[in-house]
Amino acid sequence: MIFTLVLVSALIINSARAVPPYGQCGGQGYAGSTQCDPGYVCTKLNDWYSQCLPGSNTPTAAPTTSTPTATPTSTPTTSTSTSTGTAGPPAASIPAGALTRLSNFGTNPSNVAIFVYKPSSVKVNPGLLLALHPCGGTAQQYFSGSGFRQLSDQRGFIVIYGSAANDQNCWDVTGANSLTHDGGGDSRGLASAVRYALSNWGINPDKVFVTGTSSGAMMTNVMAGVYPELFRGGAVFAGVAMGCLSRGNAPVFPADPCAAGQVSRTAQQWGDRIRQAYPGYTGPYPKMQLWHGTSDPVLNFTNLNEEVKQWTNIHGYSQTAATTSNGVPRQNWSKSVYGSGLVEGYTGQGSGHGLPESGTEASAIDWFGL
Ligand SMILES: *[C@@H]1O[C@H](CO)[C@@H](O)[C@H](O)[C@H]1NC(C)=O
Ligand SMILES: *[C@@H]1O[C@H](CO)[C@@H](O)[C@H](O)[C@H]1NC(C)=O
Repeated sequence: MIFTLVLVSALIINSARAVPPYGQCGGQGYAGSTQCDPGYVCTKLNDWYSQCLPGSNTPTAAPTTSTPTATPTSTPTTSTSTSTGTAGPPAASIPAGALTRLSNFGTNPSNVAIFVYKPSSVKVNPGLLLALHPCGGTAQQYFSGSGFRQLSDQRGFIVIYGSAANDQNCWDVTGANSLTHDGGGDSRGLASAVRYALSNWGINPDKVFVTGTSSGAMMTNVMAGVYPELFRGGAVFAGVAMGCLSRGNAPVFPADPCAAGQVSRTAQQWGDRIRQAYPGYTGPYPKMQLWHGTSDPVLNFTNLNEEVKQWTNIHGYSQTAATTSNGVPRQNWSKSVYGSGLVEGYTGQGSGHGLPESGTEASAIDWFGL
């Protein structure tokens, strides 16, 4: 699927009810409406998934493109060389093909370090992915240890990798500041970097996403919940619901009750935890993909259901999956789709804590439409 190109199908089919922005509108086994809200176009991402993406009349700054995404125009590269000097817009100041430290990007109260990766074949009005390492990790470690960099090379989006500075390099997912919109903490520094990118690099604001592993997965839920206006979606690889962890950001012994799978709340309570982070916010929340292995020894698998409760409540969905498909995206995994599709849960039968399993990053990037 590496070379799957985005096809604009522009389906003109009269259906009873239009699919909301970013909802599923087609794909194998899909039986719902194929018509998107005005301003969105049903776009085939792969054989099993088509999605309502911003279409012809979106008021974005893109001067030359009217379709949501252009096809990749150059061959993928894995080179780290940056000697070409073809630094035209977007993000002209960022060297292509190398992980580059970004400084002076705005308010950063907890000294998060920010690195940016711009692929050699970056798109016009590129998408942006914020990628967050697990505890003990760094931007460099996640850059080389996950598949997002290769996908960036293939598809032309920009990646921001953060490095957490405190708590054994775990992200601040428990502090009141970090869990409050513009309240401070790690989330504030990461939001500053995203805002800086939006202001300076010609990023398409409808293509900004966040992902991460373990502590970075928890932080993905935090960023999506606390800064919903910045992100259109998130992919959570082995995390816990926002507000679940209570005994600090770093691993403790005996295990944090949330990590051990002993924290269960109602969907309403979980949803309220997100809503109270940004009182008065009335805009949309990001769509969320939630991944977890049943044999995760670090963050008990029960946390997947708590995350599902949280995000289905945010989106006003039933907690019962609308569809579940076995063997997706690969053997021993199953995919559950909730409501009209803005929440997806992925269960890895026998999988442990080491997510994303190699290759599954593409499922998130496909779903984002990056
Ligand atoms: C997760 O928690 C449940 C219930 O406490 C327990 O039975 C199960 O063994 C735990 N799973 C793992 C992988 O530790
Ligand atoms: C799926 O699970 C079975 C049974 O545990 C195992 O033998 C097999 O190797 C797994 N397949 C993959 C692709 O992980």
